[in-house]
Amino acid sequence: MLILAFETSCDETAAAVTRNGREVLSNRVLSQTDLHEVYGGVVPEIASRRHAEAISRLADLAVSDAGITKKDIDAVAVTCTPGLIGALLVGVSFAKAAAMALGVPLIPVHHICGHVAANYIAYPELEPPFICLAVSGGNTILADVRDYTDMRVIGSTADDAAGECFDKIARVLGLGYPGGGPIDEAAKNGDDKKYRLPRAAVKGRPFDMSFSGLKTAVINLIRETEQKQEALDLPSLCASFCAAVSDSLVPGTVSAAGEFGRDKIAVAGGVAANSRIRRDFETAAERAGLKLYVPPLKLCGDNAAMIGCQGYYEYLAGNVAGLDLNAAAKTGLRPVSGPG
Ligand code: KG4
Repeated sequence: MLILAFETSCDETAAAVTRNGREVLSNRVLSQTDLHEVYGGVVPEIASRRHAEAISRLADLAVSDAGITKKDIDAVAVTCTPGLIGALLVGVSFAKAAAMALGVPLIPVHHICGHVAANYIAYPELEPPFICLAVSGGNTILADVRDYTDMRVIGSTADDAAGECFDKIARVLGLGYPGGGPIDEAAKNGDDKKYRLPRAAVKGRPFDMSFSGLKTAVINLIRETEQKQEALDLPSLCASFCAAVSDSLVPGTVSAAGEFGRDKIAVAGGVAANSRIRRDFETAAERAGLKLYVPPLKLCGDNAAMIGCQGYYEYLAGNVAGLDLNAAAKTGLRPVSGPG
C-alpha cells in the first residue's frame, strides 16, 4: 500500500511516500528554522505561511523522488494533532484536497504516534508492545505502546517539554534556534560534573518529569556568573545540562519497562538526537537487559515518512477520516493508571 504523507505541525514542511508502513520511497523535509532563528523560536503565523507556500511543490517532489505517479497512491495520511493550529491546518487542508482529487482514503495521524513509528522504519523487526519515550520541542511523553494504534501515556512532563528547555537555555546562551544541536555539540568538550544542577521528580508520579526548575537553575547560574563577572565554562555548562536532562529521562524509561513488563524500549522525537541521552540509554538498557531502539538522526526530527508509516497501521485499524477532518492543537494520547 503506497501512502502519500504530510507533516506540518510545527516548523518543518514535509511530504513522503511510504510502502506498507515500513519502507520509505521518498522523504522530503523543508526546514524553516532559518526563518524563525532571528526570533529565537517558532512564529506560528510565519510557519503557516511558509507551509502554504511549500507544500504543493514538496508533494510533487515526494511523488517524483519515489519513482511513482500520482495514480499509484493508495491513501493520503496527515498529521492532524497536536501542534500549531494554523500550521496543522495547512497540512490537513492540502491532504484533504489531495485525497479527494486522487479518490483515495484520508488517514489522520497523531504526531506523537508518528514519532514512535519512526522506529518501525529504522527497525523492521520491531513490533509492539514496548515502552517509548517521545521527546521533542513540544512534547515529552512516556508511553506504553501496547499495539500499533494503542498507546497509553504513563508519564509526561509536568511543565516544559525537554526540547523547549534546550531551546530556551540556548537562547539565553546565544547559541541560536533550535538549541538542542548546538548545546549537544558544545557539551562534547565539557565536564558534566562541573555545575551541580537539579534533577526534578514529581511527587507520587514516578514516571512524570519536570524541566522548569532545571531551566530556571541554569538561567540563574548564567546571570549570576555574568553579575560576578566570572568566566562561564560553556562546554561544561552544556555537558552538565545534558546530563541533568538525561537523568530525568533515562532511568524513568527503564524502570517503566520493568513496571509494565516490557523487554523493549524505544526513543523518539528531536531530543532523541542528543548524544548524551543516546549514550545513557545504551548503557542503561544493556544493564537492565532491555533491547533498545533509537532511530537514526534524520528520523528523530519531524518528517512525513514517520506519518506515512503510522498512517498504514491506522488504516489497518480502520482509522479513516472524512473530508470534515479538522486539526486540533492539543489531543492527548490515552492515559493509563497502571500496568495491565
Ligand atoms: O521532533 P522535533 O523535530 O519537533 C517537534 O515535534 O517538536 O524536535 C525539535 C526539538 C527542538 O527543541 C530541538 O532543540 C531538539 O529537538 N533537538 C535536540 C537535538 N537536536 C534537536 N535536543 C537535544 N539534543 C540534540 N542533539
